Amino acid sequence: MTRILLVGANGQLGQELRHTLASGNAVTAVGRAELDLSNTDAIRQLIQTTAPDVIVNAAAYTAVDKAETDEAMAKTVNAIAPTIMAEESQKLGATLVHVSTDYVFNGQKNTPYLETDTPDPLGVYGRTKLMGEDGIRQSCDRSIIIRTAWVYGVQGKGNFVKTMLRLGAEREELRVVVDQVGSPTWTQDLAGAIATLVQKVDMSDAAAEGILGLYHYANSGITSWYDFAIAIFAEAEALGFPLAIKQVMPITTAEYPTPAQRPAYSSLSNRRIAEVIGEQPPHWRKSLQKMLAELHTIRP
Ligand SMILES: NC(=O)c1ccc[n+]([C@@H]2O[C@H](COP(=O)([O-])OP(=O)(O)OC[C@H]3O[C@@H](n4cnc5c(N)ncnc54)[C@H](OP(=O)(O)O)[C@@H]3O)[C@@H](O)[C@H]2O)c1
Repeated sequence: MTRILLVGANGQLGQELRHTLASGNAVTAVGRAELDLSNTDAIRQLIQTTAPDVIVNAAAYTAVDKAETDEAMAKTVNAIAPTIMAEESQKLGATLVHVSTDYVFNGQKNTPYLETDTPDPLGVYGRTKLMGEDGIRQSCDRSIIIRTAWVYGVQGKGNFVKTMLRLGAEREELRVVVDQVGSPTWTQDLAGAIATLVQKVDMSDAAAEGILGLYHYANSGITSWYDFAIAIFAEAEALGFPLAIKQVMPITTAEYPTPAQRPAYSSLSNRRIAEVIGEQPPHWRKSLQKMLAELHTIRP
């Protein structure tokens, strides 16, 4: 039985991982109340006392716009804390599984980003996440870093799907950005892929060696935020969600300025992860349907 320390257990991915990792593993799950990531001594102490085989870090400073004016805290959570986790993993001979982001790229490509492509983040969030990746690689021999994109889940507070459902119930018209494209990714699919990697890490050292390193994982297919919104409303309507929305209008990024610049194109190539876990991630639209069906069953 693998002893797992799950950090960031109350985030949208963290909550999903609690369930997914529970089968066959002994999981210690901690959220902010149990472990404040700005307290480096507390991180070291918790890892030393729990002595896990695997640390899964799902915590992050994810407020992309706020990070532009809160760089110190974004760096603390996204760069310093994961590096401390990596240092402690190294001492224990444990494996650190960490989640990173498509926002490490500048979005100037027009074919899916490979793990070998050079990062060039456009903002503080992506820059601090990249610093976290680098800190892990430099401090720990046994790490798995999974970059993902456009994450949403049933548990998420402010994810795009739930925000669209809320706004679509309140308003008849919405304007959504059409010139940023990427791959929406359901936490349940991502958590499943992470669990498979954790299971493989648990094999003999020799076999596990081959699966360490950097991965990209996003649901298959590419869409824009605008087309994603259209799909959300179509699927939600079919399921009977209450909606007032009559019209969704495409706008450009220039028409919707935000403090942080975002990559115009951030599709991630799933080639490496598909080889290792033995299957392609599901298409984003299929996963959206499943997530909405699940959300519909638990709505009051
Ligand atoms: N969301 C996306 O679209 C997206 C896209 C690409 C990659 N990712 C990556 O995917 C991973 C999971 O993200 P997510 O979407 O699940 O994010 P999330 O829902 O925002 O969860 C992040 C968690 O980190 C916790 N956290 C933040 N600062 C902390 C601190 N100082 N001490 C302790 N805990 C702290 C948060 O706690 P509180 O709830 O108490 O604040 C929250 O539970 C992250 O590595 C993220 O960078 C996300």
